[in-house]
Amino acid sequence: MELRPVQMKDIQTCGKVMYEAFRDISRRHNFPPDFPDAGAAEGLLSDLLHAPAFDAFVAEREGRILGSIFVSRRSQVGGISVLTIDPKAQNCGVGRRLLQHGMEFLATQGHRRQQIIQVGYHNRSLCLYAKSGFIASELLSNMTGRPIKVNFPSRTVRRASESDARACNALCRKVQGFDREHEVAYAIARGTAAVVESNERITGYTTGVGFVGHGVGETNEDLKALIASADGFTGPGILIPTGNGELFRWCLENGLRVVQQMTLMDTQPSGPTNGVYWPAILS
Ligand SMILES: CC(C)(COP(=O)(O)OP(=O)(O)OC[C@H]1O[C@@H](n2cnc3c(N)ncnc32)[C@H](O)[C@@H]1OP(=O)(O)O)[C@@H](O)C(=O)NCCC(=O)NCCS
Repeated sequence: MELRPVQMKDIQTCGKVMYEAFRDISRRHNFPPDFPDAGAAEGLLSDLLHAPAFDAFVAEREGRILGSIFVSRRSQVGGISVLTIDPKAQNCGVGRRLLQHGMEFLATQGHRRQQIIQVGYHNRSLCLYAKSGFIASELLSNMTGRPIKVNFPSRTVRRASESDARACNALCRKVQGFDREHEVAYAIARGTAAVVESNERITGYTTGVGFVGHGVGETNEDLKALIASADGFTGPGILIPTGNGELFRWCLENGLRVVQQMTLMDTQPSGPTNGVYWPAILS
């Protein structure tokens, strides 16, 4: 088996493998599929391949692509963004080889600490990541529903601009101990980022309210204001840390429903945070 960087000509096959891998496991557990069709998976992978600070590798045997891994250098903490193996080639060590390759690549780029989010019903991914050095550090509730659209009189939410990036990164470092500089810059450029202000200073921000966006705040009021201002929840929904009981209950009380449980896994035990956050699926 050969491991090599993904090229644009591989994306159609990688998208098909990704669609079938997720469809196979979600169907077995009676959950809705992550993607409506292979084209949607292909579109996501094509975006990732062109986005800054993502790298990707395929595992190939005799010219047949068995699976792929996409890793992110967008944050100081490296991210294993997507790892999928053809259902016909699963459980034979291909995922382990690709994961090791992706983790080693990130480490050589200075991202020794790494994170990944796995779906709670998938025992194999949980065990593979645990055996590869990841610790289950946060239970996440993937939630979605109608836009909440409640005003918080003490908070103002507005679209983020380039001049806000420094304050957002400083806040992330204060709350979580690291920043997500490239992710923030990318979201600001694409117009999906928002900040929340209180007493005329930034007390929270988000790169997008949904599956691919994260949020950071000094308090739960900041996160609530950001979530309540969103016009909708992108993809399968937002990833709320279930252990943040106040925020989780507030989402439930405002009509959001739990789609599925997920696990944030980290190669370092996560220490106490100086604030609150929600993570993004692509890390
Ligand atoms: C998750 C996935 C990437 C793993 O790839 P894979 O090639 O099937 O996995 P591997 O064979 O390399 O490794 C699986 C490991 O988990 C272990 N394992 C699997 N199920 C287990 C269980 N129920 N209990 C304990 N260990 C288990 C295997 O023994 C193996 O460990 P080993 O290498 O020490 O023998 C692949 O199954 C997949 O694409 N799944 C669907 C998509 C998905 O969920 N991707 C992950 C996104 S976060």
